[in-house]
Amino acid sequence: MVENHSQSYVYSPVARVLHWLIAGLILAQFIIGWTMPDVHRDTLPTGEIAWHLSVGAAIVAAMVLRIIWRVTHAPEPAKLSPTLMFASKATHLLLYGLLLAVPLAGWANASARGWMVNLFGMLPFPALAAKGSSVGMALGDIHSVLAWVLFAVIALHIAAAFFHRFVLRDSVLRRML
Ligand code: HEM
Ligand code: HEM
Repeated sequence: MVENHSQSYVYSPVARVLHWLIAGLILAQFIIGWTMPDVHRDTLPTGEIAWHLSVGAAIVAAMVLRIIWRVTHAPEPAKLSPTLMFASKATHLLLYGLLLAVPLAGWANASARGWMVNLFGMLPFPALAAKGSSVGMALGDIHSVLAWVLFAVIALHIAAAFFHRFVLRDSVLRRML
């Protein structure tokens, strides 16, 4: 297959830094989430759980910046067939939705448990749910389930990046490097 060099667009440095920063934070967050102790009614937010809340707060802050940047700086669309364009737009939209829904559900659950969420002890975040709120407690289960959905969509996204690089041999991966 002939390599296609016609697409020379790359995302702006800000978009690339935010993409890889958030990717790193999400990877750390999955490792912490799946290795931290089980959370029960009387669990205190210390150790790995405190890290999960702080890394989560950093993800929320970085996602706010990223969405503002994305809305004000639309990237040049990749040159793709209509089917691939639809699949890519749908996957990216789903990623953005989950990158907001998963942290917000976790944050509401932390608030319902009476846990304070703050950015590494510096910037306090307001409570998203009242202490003991049943909706906030239910959002804990939704958080755990949606984290798996996010994991699956990220796996698909990474597989697509490699499919572009090694099967289609186009320059889509280079747009984000
Ligand atoms: C995209 C970002 C996040 C990911 C991928 C993530 C992932 C996870 C995972 C895998 C678990 C363990 C679930 C289980 O074993 O059942 C978990 C639990 C939890 N996370 Fe997150 N999390 C994220 C963001 C947040 C944020 C921002 C907060 C709060 C500020 C948070 C608060 C919690 C809480 C309170 C639990 C315990 C829930 C329970 O067991 O009821 N998470 N998270
Ligand atoms: C936690 C992991 C990741 C998340 C949450 C994530 C999320 C996203 C999102 C939301 C976009 C859409 C950007 C936009 O147009 O606004 C995007 C684009 C992109 N990502 Fe990721 N990503 C992750 C990891 C990766 C990895 C590991 C690779 C490469 C192996 C990668 C390659 C790309 C590429 C090439 C694009 C640009 C696609 C295009 O030009 O349309 N991503 N990513």
